[in-house]
Amino acid sequence: MTTYTTETQTGSTGQPGPWWRGAVGYEVYVRSFADSSGDGLGDLAGVTSRLEYLSWLGVDAVWLTPFYPSPGHDHGYDVSDYCAVSRRHGTLEDFDTLVSEAHGLGLRVMVDIVPNHTSIEHQWFASARRDPGGPDRDRFLWADPAPGGGPPNNWLSHFGGPAWTLDEASGQYWCHLFLPEQPDLNWRNPRVRDDFDAILEWWMDRGVDGFRVDVAHGLVKDVQLRDNPQIAPVVAGMDPFDAFDSFEHRHDMDQSENVEIFRRWSQVCAPRRAMLLGEVNAPWPDRMARYVQAGALDQAFFLQSAFLGWDPETLLTMVRVMHDAAPHGISWVLSNHDRSRPVTRFGGGDVGVRRSLAVSTLFLTLGGTPFLYQGEELGLPDGALRAGFHDPVSVRNAGATHGRDGCRTPMPWDSSTHNGFSAGAPWIDAESRPPEQTVAGQRADPGAPLHRYRDLLAVRRRHPDTWRAPLEWIEASDPRVAALRRGTIAVVANLSERTTSVRLGSPGWQAAFASQPGCRLDSPANDTVSVPAETTVVLSNDGPLAAPGVA
Ligand code: GLC
Repeated sequence: MTTYTTETQTGSTGQPGPWWRGAVGYEVYVRSFADSSGDGLGDLAGVTSRLEYLSWLGVDAVWLTPFYPSPGHDHGYDVSDYCAVSRRHGTLEDFDTLVSEAHGLGLRVMVDIVPNHTSIEHQWFASARRDPGGPDRDRFLWADPAPGGGPPNNWLSHFGGPAWTLDEASGQYWCHLFLPEQPDLNWRNPRVRDDFDAILEWWMDRGVDGFRVDVAHGLVKDVQLRDNPQIAPVVAGMDPFDAFDSFEHRHDMDQSENVEIFRRWSQVCAPRRAMLLGEVNAPWPDRMARYVQAGALDQAFFLQSAFLGWDPETLLTMVRVMHDAAPHGISWVLSNHDRSRPVTRFGGGDVGVRRSLAVSTLFLTLGGTPFLYQGEELGLPDGALRAGFHDPVSVRNAGATHGRDGCRTPMPWDSSTHNGFSAGAPWIDAESRPPEQTVAGQRADPGAPLHRYRDLLAVRRRHPDTWRAPLEWIEASDPRVAALRRGTIAVVANLSERTTSVRLGSPGWQAAFASQPGCRLDSPANDTVSVPAETTVVLSNDGPLAAPGVA
C-alpha cells in the first residue's frame, strides 16, 4: 500500500499549517455515489473510479460515509465491526487502492467514525446482553426500570419513541439515542476509550488523513441519568425530530466531559497529522466552540444551516455569531446526507440554485474547512422517490416525516441506465435525473452550476486570503446582507431581494468571482460595489482576474 507522506507544515493548498487549513472537503455518501459491482449499492471501487472527477472539480479531501460491516438498520451508522469493510462495499484491498489512488491525485481521505453507539450485532453488545455479570456489560448503558415500571427516564430517541429498550432476559433497559439496534456505548468505561484509540490508530495505519466523528456531542451521558426538562408538549403523530426538540437536552447530550474525550483523541491523531472533524450539535455557539478549542477537535460542522429553509436574516446572524466564536474551527456546510438538499429548501429550480450558490460562495470565504455534499456542485434538488421509504426514520414514523431519502438518491453521472450509478437496480428506487442534472450533461455546458462551483473552488485556491487573513465584518444596513474584508479579499453576500450597494472602505477592487452576473464596481475609484439580489461577490485588490458576468 502506498502511504502518503506529506510535508508536516504544508497544507493541501501549499500554505503553511496542517493539511486541512484552506482545504475544501467533499462528502461521499458511499451507498449512493458509484457502484462498480452492479448490485445496486455504491462501493469503494466505485468511489475510486470517480476520484479523477473530484480532482478535476478541485476539492482537497473526501469524507467517506460508513462502509463497515453492518446489518444496515441505519444504513451503515450501526457498525458491527469498526476495523473491516462490509462485503457489500468491497474489501480492505479496495480501501487501500482507494487511499493510494486518492493520494496520488493529491486528495486526502477521511473516514466516518461512529463512537456514540455500535450495532446491536457488534460482538461487544452480543456479549454484554448474553452475560449481564460479564466484563462487556458495562461497555453499554443499562438501567433498571423506573420505580413505577417503564423506561428509566424521559429521554427520547432521535428516531421516535423512548431512548430505552427493555432487555427481557435481564429486566434492564439499554439506552439508544437512535434506533434500538444502535445501543449507546458507555464512555465512562475506560475500555471503551482504549478501544477507540486503537480503532483510530488502525485506520491511520491504513493511511487515512482524518475522521468525521458521528454524534460527537452525544458520547458521555449524565451519570445519574436524570430526566431532561421538557420545553414543549409532545403529541402523537409528531415528527420525531420535533418531539426530540421538545426537550432541553441537558442530561443526554453535550456533557462537558465530551471535550475530554476529544483531547485524548487529539493526542492520538495530532502526531499523525490526522484531522478530527465533529458532527457537533450543541445548542449555543460558545458550547460549539468548546469542542474546537486547541487540543480537542480540529473542526466542527456548521449544522444549523442544514436545518434552515430560505431565511437569510437568521442564516447570516448565525453565521456571524458562529464565525466569531470559532474563526478557524468551523466546517461550513449547506447540506449533508441527513437533510433535504439546499436547492429544494431554498425554493427549488433556478431560484434554489441561485440562492445555494450565493450562500456557498460566502461559506467558502469564511475560513475553516468547508464541505460540499455529493451533487451539491450540480445544483441538485432532492431526488424523487418512486415508491416506499428506505430511511428508518420514515419507516418508523410513516406520515410524520419526510425522512432523509430525498438527499440520498444516486449520484447522476450521465444519462445511461440508472444515471450511470449502477448497472443494476439502485438500492433506493428514485426517478432518473434529466441530462441537465448529470455530471456529463453539465460538463458539456459551460453555463452549468458545476462550472460555477469549480470556478469558485479555483478562486479560493488562488486567493489564500479567502480563508487565511483575519476577517473583519463590514457594516451593512440590511440584516440580509453580509459583507467582510480579509486581507486582499472582500466579500458581499446580498441575500435580500433587492440590489444593494456596499462601500468597501478602500479603492482598487476587482471582482474575482460572482455567483450571478450583474455586479458593478463604481468607477474610477472601484471602492463601492453594487450587487444584485441573492448574489455573492468575491473581490480582490491584488490584481485583475477573469470574472464572468461582472461589469
Ligand atoms: C449522524 C449521521 C446520521 C445517523 C446518525 C446516527 O447524525 O449523520 O446519518 O443516522 O448519526 O448514527
